[in-house]
Amino acid sequence: MFDRRHFLKAGAALPLLAMLPHSARADPKTEEGIVLRAQQGSQQMMATDLAGPTPIWGFGGSAPGPVLRVKAGERLRAVVENALDQPTSVHWHGIRIDNAMDGVPGLTQEAIEPGSRFVYDFVAPDPGTYWYHSHDRSWEQNARGLYGALIVEEAEPWEGADRDLVLLVDDWRLAEDGSIDDSFGQMMDWSHGGRLGNFVTVNGRSKPRIEVRPNERIRVRLINVANARVMELGLAGMRAFRLALDGMPVPLVEEKEPILLAPAQRTDLLVDIPDDETPKSLVLHTNGGPLEIAEFAVAGEPVRTSFPAAVGLPHSGPSLPDDLSNAIRAELLMEGGAMGTMKGAMHQGRAMDIRELVSMGRVWAFNGVAGDMDEPIGRFERGRAVVLSIKNVTSWPHAMHLHGHHFRVLSRNGKPTDEVAMRDTALTVPDETIEIAFVADNPGRWMLHCHMLEHSAGGMMTWFEVA
Ligand code: C2O
Ligand code: CU
Repeated sequence: MFDRRHFLKAGAALPLLAMLPHSARADPKTEEGIVLRAQQGSQQMMATDLAGPTPIWGFGGSAPGPVLRVKAGERLRAVVENALDQPTSVHWHGIRIDNAMDGVPGLTQEAIEPGSRFVYDFVAPDPGTYWYHSHDRSWEQNARGLYGALIVEEAEPWEGADRDLVLLVDDWRLAEDGSIDDSFGQMMDWSHGGRLGNFVTVNGRSKPRIEVRPNERIRVRLINVANARVMELGLAGMRAFRLALDGMPVPLVEEKEPILLAPAQRTDLLVDIPDDETPKSLVLHTNGGPLEIAEFAVAGEPVRTSFPAAVGLPHSGPSLPDDLSNAIRAELLMEGGAMGTMKGAMHQGRAMDIRELVSMGRVWAFNGVAGDMDEPIGRFERGRAVVLSIKNVTSWPHAMHLHGHHFRVLSRNGKPTDEVAMRDTALTVPDETIEIAFVADNPGRWMLHCHMLEHSAGGMMTWFEVA
């Protein structure tokens, strides 16, 4: 599906220097906080002999927007100004946030109208790798570049790596002239795998060159910010250990296989740069073979003569009680999409058949309801554990995301998993039932949706209330 040749031809090799200003730039700060202005911008993504800069929408006019850093337990204040000509909002993905700051128009706030602003002000409780992105028409706004990384640093500095590198991987759909293909809202995408692109960037650049030193140990934070593409990522020529998934520490293991990241998922890796001549790169595995999407260029003096043993991250974040026998049980049936069996669903308070649903852009349903947000799927007493059984009877994979909470995947198709990670997004494959468990300890109204953004907009969204 992924056109590897097109990418190779159209890719422009740009040094990482061109992208460093994103993370190194002093963000415009006011007394109120960091200003994130949603605005148009442009940046060179395709090779210059093929196309000019790509017009994007981004926070601060670039995609990704600035890397935001805050220490665990500290307050982040961000003034989001909307300089676009449509409403927007910002969701802080994966943060156990104050509900009023969660950024969901119609559920936790009013959308930020063109020309107006909203001040987000919250404490980030858990260290880890998170991201922020538009949560209004996100199937278009994220695809145009409205996202960035949010790094919550350990309160006590963690010294297991020499430095920290944030890599946001995106999958753009570009036209021949380098502009963003404007085929938004196509039911073909919505009812199938979502808007898949044809051009991959890392930190908004095609195949950036990342300068590293021999025997350097780097904490690499990988974030899949694509609308719909599930990515299989690998590090060629380097040794990597898994530190965290979706921001939450996991026991240290060496990564020997490609890493599967569904849209919105993250992993933190400890990457050792050996002092040798083998080419080193970040690789996206595609049907057409491996594709280098970032190059690690080794230069300079070795950092050390040999690596000490790798150490993992200290435990942080939420956990689950050992005994889930008293947990509240709930179910979510996911239906619809192409090659599915859904005949109809409720929408706008009445039963509609599939034809009518399609005419309204609703091609998926949760528990028989096609994306209406008037009623929650559940109201959970604060502090109770919840076991949610999610049944995917569609012909498509889905990346299920829970707002404001982290969960563990207890079982897949009735078989207990050994997945220890507390995640905020889990991939389900066709004909799979997964059971997830979380403690409903954060009061408010929380969305639960597929993070393939076309699926969400097409009906795969609901919410639950914790009170
Ligand atoms: Cu990252 Cu509701 O989304
Ligand atoms: Cu989906």
